[in-house]
Amino acid sequence: MEKTYTIDEAMVVAIEEAKKGIGLVSPNPPVGCVILSPKFELLAKGHHKVFGGNHAEIEALSQVDNKSDLEGAHVVVTLEPCAHKGKTGSCAMALSKFKLASVTYGITDPNPKVKGKGELILKEAGVEASRYRPKSEFEYLIDELELLIDQFKVNILEERSFIALKIASSMDGMVAHQSGQSQWITNSKSRQVAHHLRSIYECTAVGKNTLLFDDPKLNIRIEGHSEKSNKVLIIDPKGESVGQMNNLNLTKYRSPEQIYIAVGEDHFKKVKRSKFSILRCPNKEAGLLDLEGLSKVLYQNKIFSAFVEGGAFTVSAFAAQNFFDRFYYFVAPCILGSKTGVSWTKSKEIQDLKDKLALRLNKVEVLEGDVLLDYSRLYQKNVII
Ligand SMILES: NC(=O)c1ccc[n+]([C@@H]2O[C@H](COP(=O)([O-])OP(=O)(O)OC[C@H]3O[C@@H](n4cnc5c(N)ncnc54)[C@H](OP(=O)(O)O)[C@@H]3O)[C@@H](O)[C@H]2O)c1
Repeated sequence: MEKTYTIDEAMVVAIEEAKKGIGLVSPNPPVGCVILSPKFELLAKGHHKVFGGNHAEIEALSQVDNKSDLEGAHVVVTLEPCAHKGKTGSCAMALSKFKLASVTYGITDPNPKVKGKGELILKEAGVEASRYRPKSEFEYLIDELELLIDQFKVNILEERSFIALKIASSMDGMVAHQSGQSQWITNSKSRQVAHHLRSIYECTAVGKNTLLFDDPKLNIRIEGHSEKSNKVLIIDPKGESVGQMNNLNLTKYRSPEQIYIAVGEDHFKKVKRSKFSILRCPNKEAGLLDLEGLSKVLYQNKIFSAFVEGGAFTVSAFAAQNFFDRFYYFVAPCILGSKTGVSWTKSKEIQDLKDKLALRLNKVEVLEGDVLLDYSRLYQKNVII
């Protein structure tokens, strides 16, 4: 007898499908879809593979050779089927051509062009369409579904780039020795995972000092990725790195247009004619860039996400401005000491404990002795304090 699936179990499979598209479909969200037969056996599954390519529903439908098998079938998809034509045509319209029994979607599309309209198209075609309501033991799936669209939500609703921070720290929150040494605090497994994270965001960002002190390559050294593929962003309000760029490793791995330099309004004029991509960014106060303003400038330049890897001043500036969306905290089992170490929160101050910056824990991963703590800034429910 064929294995049968409940809607909750099918949603688990749909989420796994969606994850295959992470880092490949931006600025679209990763989406996965499962089709169950009228007897709840697996008929097909699919995911959105590449920006501009088939949506997950169309991929799954294409796996069903005999379309008459779709009569009475159940579709389970991570995101509400799209209502508008966009690049590939409406998925809600495509699904409504078959006499499906039901369509269950994980999250209502936050895109105002789609929100609720996909469900309406299906209902008008006589399909029982509804948002997923998990049984209690599957409630954790709602958080997973939300995380799948975290970047898309920020892009669509706030018209700004999604900002993920990463820091490699000792147990006492130090990211370097005051002499400048920082290689390595975390182990090689952590660094491998960090390369994977680089691959899922559109550009890798560092502060000016990390660029000039460490001369990093900032490329993606994992299988399946071209060494020249990722853009980089240097946060350098005075544009001091521009003149030194040609001697740095960065330029060996990418073309000048792939190197973005965020410069303050007051220093823009002197570097704007450079061959690199100079971004004119608003200042917050003397010498400090407005980081939310920077994320809007990135979005306007079609960079929909940034993975900020340090150094200490840069990450602490994001923390001080309470501005970021995701935080990957790699912690190594060692202590550097606050007298001789460099802390990643040095510019963060609060007057009262109630002003503490609270995050939401998504996941904990043990990496051969190091620990990766994955946090979100946006979703405040279930805050762990
Ligand atoms: N453990 C880790 O995860 C890790 C990661 C990366 C680097 N590191 C280490 O960290 C050290 C470097 O850290 P760092 O704190 O000296 O330098 P940094 O953060 O790389 O760069 C700091 C500089 O970037 C500019 N900057 C960044 N954000 C800004 C903002 N919001 N507004 C204005 N300016 C901004 C400023 O330039 P101006 O001074 O020109 O204004 C600032 O001085 C190195 O030792 C490096 O090896 C550790």
